[in-house]
Amino acid sequence: MKLIYISISGNTRSFAKRLAEYAAAQQTTDPTAPTITLKEIDDNSPFEVETENFFAMVPTYLEGGNGVDNGDVEILTDVLRDYLDYQNNYRYCLGVIGSGNKNFNRQYCLTAKQYAAQFDFPFLADYELRGTTADLERIYQLLKTANQN
Ligand SMILES: Cc1cc2nc3c(=O)[nH]c(=O)nc-3n(C[C@H](O)[C@H](O)[C@H](O)COP(=O)(O)O)c2cc1C
Repeated sequence: MKLIYISISGNTRSFAKRLAEYAAAQQTTDPTAPTITLKEIDDNSPFEVETENFFAMVPTYLEGGNGVDNGDVEILTDVLRDYLDYQNNYRYCLGVIGSGNKNFNRQYCLTAKQYAAQFDFPFLADYELRGTTADLERIYQLLKTANQN
């Protein structure tokens, strides 16, 4: 399974790497367990045309608004939105996992929800900050299921 993500302060990078390690570890008991390859996008990444299914992971950075009835502006992560849009890459995206901080209330994980609405792929899961071991297990299972459908 392929995971394309962006990470500004390192939380998503940490989670993505631990998820890939968790997937690799599953193979010791289940040789058919899918492994995970990672691709990080940042402002300097060359845009490439995606040709196989992948999942997206995006943290939330919003400026202004309350996420409910007035505007909010995506900051810092918009290169991932552009990457998904590029040459319709989003067509291969099986779903998005959002992360954020619950202190942001209604804006918690809103960027991932906005991607799902804009590109019409499912919002699969959310987790806070670096994610827990329970989050790793839960999200790996979710990805596995979504990858089979
Ligand atoms: C300026 C700023 C704005 C943020 N806005 C939101 C927000 O609107 N909603 C949310 O759930 N989390 C918000 N967060 C929390 C981040 O999404 C969270 O820390 C995330 O784990 C960062 O991921 P990263 O380290 O991979 O960049 C914000 C954090 C910062 C620093």
